Amino acid sequence: MARYRKRSLILFLALALLASSSQGFLRTENKIKSAVFLSPKLAMNPGSVSDAYFFDIDFPRGHIGLKSFDAEVVDEAGNPVPLHETYVHHWVVKPYYVRKGSSTLPQQEMFKKQGVSSQDPGSNLDSRSSDIIFVNNGGLCRSRLRHYYGLGSETRKTSTYLPDPYAVEIDNPQERPDGYEFKWLLNLHAIDTRGVEDRKGCIECVCYLYNVTVGEYGRAINPGYKGGLYCCYDKTQCLVKSGFDNGKKTRNLYLKYTLRWVDWDNTVLPAKVYILDVTDSWKKSEGSTGDIQEHNCHVEYEVKPCTTSGDGCIDVKKKSLMMPFDGYIVYGVAHQHAGGIGAALYRETGEGICTSMAKYGNGVEPGNEAGYIVGMTSCNPADPVKVSYGETLTLEVNYSSAVGHTGVMGIFYMIVAQQLPEPESSLPNLFQAPVRSVSFLAYLAVTVVVAVVVLIAAVIYRRQNREDGYQSLTT
Ligand SMILES: *[C@@H]1O[C@H](CO)[C@@H](O)[C@H](O)[C@H]1NC(C)=O
Ligand SMILES: *[C@@H]1O[C@H](CO)[C@@H](O)[C@H](O)[C@H]1NC(C)=O
Repeated sequence: MARYRKRSLILFLALALLASSSQGFLRTENKIKSAVFLSPKLAMNPGSVSDAYFFDIDFPRGHIGLKSFDAEVVDEAGNPVPLHETYVHHWVVKPYYVRKGSSTLPQQEMFKKQGVSSQDPGSNLDSRSSDIIFVNNGGLCRSRLRHYYGLGSETRKTSTYLPDPYAVEIDNPQERPDGYEFKWLLNLHAIDTRGVEDRKGCIECVCYLYNVTVGEYGRAINPGYKGGLYCCYDKTQCLVKSGFDNGKKTRNLYLKYTLRWVDWDNTVLPAKVYILDVTDSWKKSEGSTGDIQEHNCHVEYEVKPCTTSGDGCIDVKKKSLMMPFDGYIVYGVAHQHAGGIGAALYRETGEGICTSMAKYGNGVEPGNEAGYIVGMTSCNPADPVKVSYGETLTLEVNYSSAVGHTGVMGIFYMIVAQQLPEPESSLPNLFQAPVRSVSFLAYLAVTVVVAVVVLIAAVIYRRQNREDGYQSLTT
């Protein structure tokens, strides 16, 4: 009886050790970390605009895979600020490398000076002469829209989560140029609409409300341009109601951003961000390669009010673009401004790939502000959509044209994986993971250790058994 108990106890311990160790590995492999950060502060007044660039924001360091990037504007006490008080035109984040120990100039000045270069993913890393090298997304827009993540008013109810096993790879040490460090730049564009004369006009950056005739860098604005980013740049002021008490209304706001990530290892499949723009000027022509040099993205456009109700008062804008990658779309979402209805991506055959629809609020509380787009639906195709290099996809962006809109956008984010997970095989887990070399080896090591322990235990047990037997004979 006692012997049986001893034997089964050893077996149980061995099995428990094996089970707990394998679970332990699985847990660390899939361990998603998260952290919440606050941007530097923005001081806002009624009608004021801030379009600030913050270099070297707080961010998890090292070789990681980003699973999501969520953000919202909060006040000094950490309370969410509703869009009807502070409109989030956009926040965008962009990675860059900075030369270690480079000049003590504020980085923002360096940014404005010449000598800032950009690195396209996949391009080789020669001709490094500048102190800052931006890391661009893989999309087609040449100079603008080169960021990784970015949303506007929809930020509170748009999922940016990337399902397993995918993650956006950040700071791969093999891609980092020698002598450089990896950092992040945040651009936050907010419009304080407390007490303004015309809230819709202020958030659509209507030029006359800002009394702007000259752009941020001193160039005269085309008289045909009624509104948009060129009229609501940093430190411009939207018209406030006369008699509105503007005193003591200054307040400090922050972008609160929540990141989820995993430490990089071989179980994570890398995915890259691509941004498409419906205002891209590109057209397929003879000899066109679809190369980034052929693209010019205007980023924003105007929706004219409909004249008859014959067209249903929907403005439909389409753009066909040649895709610059081979891969699988594992996430998609559109960015639109108020008036937006939704956007979709189609194949040439008309087959739908991803539809992202606008969600409007119907209350006053943050995340549900009436009249504002408070979220966009996103696609996580259950079967990731394969796209081949050179394939033409069409982006369709719809706005309501019941009233006109200036400065609207039709931007589409895709996150693309280069490969899919290995198909599940019928072999036991142990033999299924040749690509997971590190954890596989660790697993193997633990298994060997457990086997040795079991063996030793068995030998001891047997020896004891024999001794027991011998003793029982002599007594
Ligand atoms: C608009 O700007 C002009 C100069 O650019 C200035 O003379 C005028 O006072 C401004 N109007 C208002 C309402 O601020
Ligand atoms: C855009 O509008 C057109 C015309 O009404 C419609 O056929 C299409 O499905 C709409 N697409 C989206 C994404 O809303």
